Amino acid sequence: MSIIKENFEKMNITKIKNAKSNRKLTVITAYDALFANLFKNIADIILVGDSLNMSFAGKNDTLSATLDQMIYHTKAVCNGAKEAFVVVDMPFGTYINKDEALKNASKVYAKTNAAAVKIEGGEDRADIVEHLTKNSIAVMGHIGLMPQYVRSEGGYKVRGKDKHDAQQLIKDALAIEKAGAFSIVIEGVMSDVAKEISEAVNIPTIGIGAGKDTDGQVLVWSDMLGLFEEFKPKFVRDYLDGANLVKEAVKQYRSDVQNGSFPSKEEEY
Ligand code: KIV
Repeated sequence: MSIIKENFEKMNITKIKNAKSNRKLTVITAYDALFANLFKNIADIILVGDSLNMSFAGKNDTLSATLDQMIYHTKAVCNGAKEAFVVVDMPFGTYINKDEALKNASKVYAKTNAAAVKIEGGEDRADIVEHLTKNSIAVMGHIGLMPQYVRSEGGYKVRGKDKHDAQQLIKDALAIEKAGAFSIVIEGVMSDVAKEISEAVNIPTIGIGAGKDTDGQVLVWSDMLGLFEEFKPKFVRDYLDGANLVKEAVKQYRSDVQNGSFPSKEEEY
């Protein structure tokens, strides 16, 4: 048994909140049972991100992801990682007001074993986060660069570059914390500002492209395994040369088929 498995602790909301002062949290996305099964007992949290709309469904952004799509993938992730703490992204348009948000988040709870939902937005969405948490839905916030705002903002823009924006981000984090969120993703934010935000709130911050001073990190699995070739953000570290390894393996398979060496006698019935 590996060291990681022996040290792995099944997470819950209390343990995640307590991690703030104790240790860094490792979060990874997953979209299916196969990979969720590989990540379970290693990552503290598995996020079924609506980024699946891009890397899995091949769309240009996350905006057309649907609730049914998210539920389908979350069921698969929960099947593959039964013990994991699974968070699911509420897709664009499913939390436009408090009632819609509660109806849709309740559907996620009813149909999947997800432990929590994630909502993009700061002060502007604090009333929605509060409505959900008051109705017993666990919420992870998401501030900074918010992919669901890409069309209204005219692109993906790194946040916190000036004092005014830095102050707004701190207000956003405090509003989401006050609304009852148990943690906050901080995406695409200048690292000194992400540090300030992390010091300002008492719940764990999970950074992505936000430097090293957040309380944890999240990466999209297909980015960090080098499988998503379309675009590689600066903050992604390649932990595997996935795309090339896969292509080489499939080329080898093709070559073995073509030269007749696959299947061999041992691979026959
Ligand atoms: O959709 C997603 O995968 C996310 C992460 C980038 C945090 O929201």
